[in-house]
Amino acid sequence: MCGIYGFIGDGTVEDLVNGLKKLEYRGYDSAGIAFAKNGSLIIEKHTGKVDQLREFLSSNLEKRIHAGIAHTRWATHGVPNDLNAHPQSDCTHKIAVVHNGIIENFSTLRSQLQAEGHKFVSQTDTEVVAHLVEKYFNGDLLEAVRRAVEDLNGTYAIGVLHSDVKNEIIFARRKSPLVVASDGKRSFCASDVTPLISSVRDVMFLEDGQLARLTAGDFEIFESTSKNVDKKFHHIDWNEKDAEKGGFKHFMLKEIYEEPRVISDALTGRTYGGRIAFDELSEWKDYLKNLNKLNVVACGTSYHAGLIFKYFFENLRPFNIEVEVSSEYRYRNVFVDDKTLTIAISQSGETADTLESIRLVKSLGGKVLAISNVVGSTLTREADKTLYINAGPEISVASTKAYIGQMMVLYLLALHIDSIMDGKHPEIVKSLNKLPEIMDNFITSSNSKIKKVANKYVGYANFMYVGRGINFPSALEGALKLKEISYTNAVGYQAGELKHGPIALLDEKFPVMAVAVSDELKEKMISNILETKARNAHVVAILTEGDSDVSSVVNDSIHLPKLPHYLYPFLVGSAFQLFAYHVADGRNLSIDMPRNLAKSVTVE
Ligand code: F6R
Repeated sequence: MCGIYGFIGDGTVEDLVNGLKKLEYRGYDSAGIAFAKNGSLIIEKHTGKVDQLREFLSSNLEKRIHAGIAHTRWATHGVPNDLNAHPQSDCTHKIAVVHNGIIENFSTLRSQLQAEGHKFVSQTDTEVVAHLVEKYFNGDLLEAVRRAVEDLNGTYAIGVLHSDVKNEIIFARRKSPLVVASDGKRSFCASDVTPLISSVRDVMFLEDGQLARLTAGDFEIFESTSKNVDKKFHHIDWNEKDAEKGGFKHFMLKEIYEEPRVISDALTGRTYGGRIAFDELSEWKDYLKNLNKLNVVACGTSYHAGLIFKYFFENLRPFNIEVEVSSEYRYRNVFVDDKTLTIAISQSGETADTLESIRLVKSLGGKVLAISNVVGSTLTREADKTLYINAGPEISVASTKAYIGQMMVLYLLALHIDSIMDGKHPEIVKSLNKLPEIMDNFITSSNSKIKKVANKYVGYANFMYVGRGINFPSALEGALKLKEISYTNAVGYQAGELKHGPIALLDEKFPVMAVAVSDELKEKMISNILETKARNAHVVAILTEGDSDVSSVVNDSIHLPKLPHYLYPFLVGSAFQLFAYHVADGRNLSIDMPRNLAKSVTVE
């Protein structure tokens, strides 16, 4: 939440805006930049998205600057307006601060600073940081920031620029991510790697409590005690093109079309004949063999991938698996022992509640395996081991390809643990290897058909998504996708639960999206569909092609090829993503940046 970008070294205002644009998915309530010109601090900030800021700056874009910091906001304290936009400044108007996170003691600090004579102009918690730096500054910006952050409770990633300090900018982190790099001429800092990969590939992730001093040719890292820290680099091999739209109308559609490639990359080097091999887990053979419990923690879409994992694993062997939303798990009195493995799933690897959940597990002596997309993210650094999904940057706020990639890695993990426990399922491994081609055919041949169905439903205000077994989490995920990008009320239920209450909602204005593929639960699904039809609901079924039992009782159908039952969640996932996409597009909405949301939820 909130994107921070900054560089020092020769550049332009436009470079600053371009870097910020790549972080816009982290928040888009307002955008702003700060740089120094002839000893004065210039701040430009506006409500709205980065393109609005760009337009506002149009006559200044080519202006040369030596250093700048920039921010795109997801509002926490204070409504989105120009005053609350970052950068925030101090009384002398020499200091600019950008911030991601929440300063929990900002109100106390603000009162203290006001009593000392500081004047505040915004409602933000961030402004206290600018005044604290002002208070502590006596020529050494690093020291002033170090003292300022000592006073803060809560979470922060901050960037600070001082118009009298020409040759450095300072960044500091506690719990909100920051990554630093230098190409020898310019040094950069950002909330994540996306704005950096066009210039550098070796980056350093700041740890909690660390500060970074960036100069044009290099950077230094310090502990809160001012001790200099050795640099530890991560190599990023994401393709720069992955962070561009490549001819698609929206990132979301592009990322759905990337799903076959994502599945194939998740499989690469991890299957041999009918076997699974995870080099990353080689030291854990004995531990995995003796497991008797799996805990899965995650939020949102990643949680749904976790639920599918549970169904898939239980199909391989009965096992004690608990899947819990991180924001609940972290406050529970949980049971963890040396035969428990906690799997934390997070695309970004920065989701605050998921991080707190794993900290809880680790404090109880438990082991944590991260499933993440972002190399070097906080989750991957704090977990004992990580399996990367290798999906490449996911720009659209709605998670699509990462969800499909998570599922694939989780399937492989389930098969791996099962095989260590003596299970053998070569036919499943074989079928997983065929999935990239199946997905590719499905997405390319079905997109326009799904669009046609979606166009019929653009005007409806409520949707009920239902499924059973391994396709029940798909219903939850389908409903989540629709509500987040089309602002439509959509609820997901186990189809068998309808009659216990939700069926009361249904009428001809409340369509039902039913997953009724040809599996062992199909007959039960047909009964549930008929119950909804009896209440005049329109039903759109996701069914297996050629299955007239289902197609004859529903209003509209989305056809999937005949597959082993455990592969359906992948295609159902893409089908629901495309349906949500076309409903939202039919309403001309801001699909990649839906209102009120942001990618990478770093607040609790
Ligand atoms: C929905 C979506 C969110 C995320 C959730 C967790 O499309 O993107 O529900 O899945 O915020 O994020 P990560 O996986 O980064 O922990």
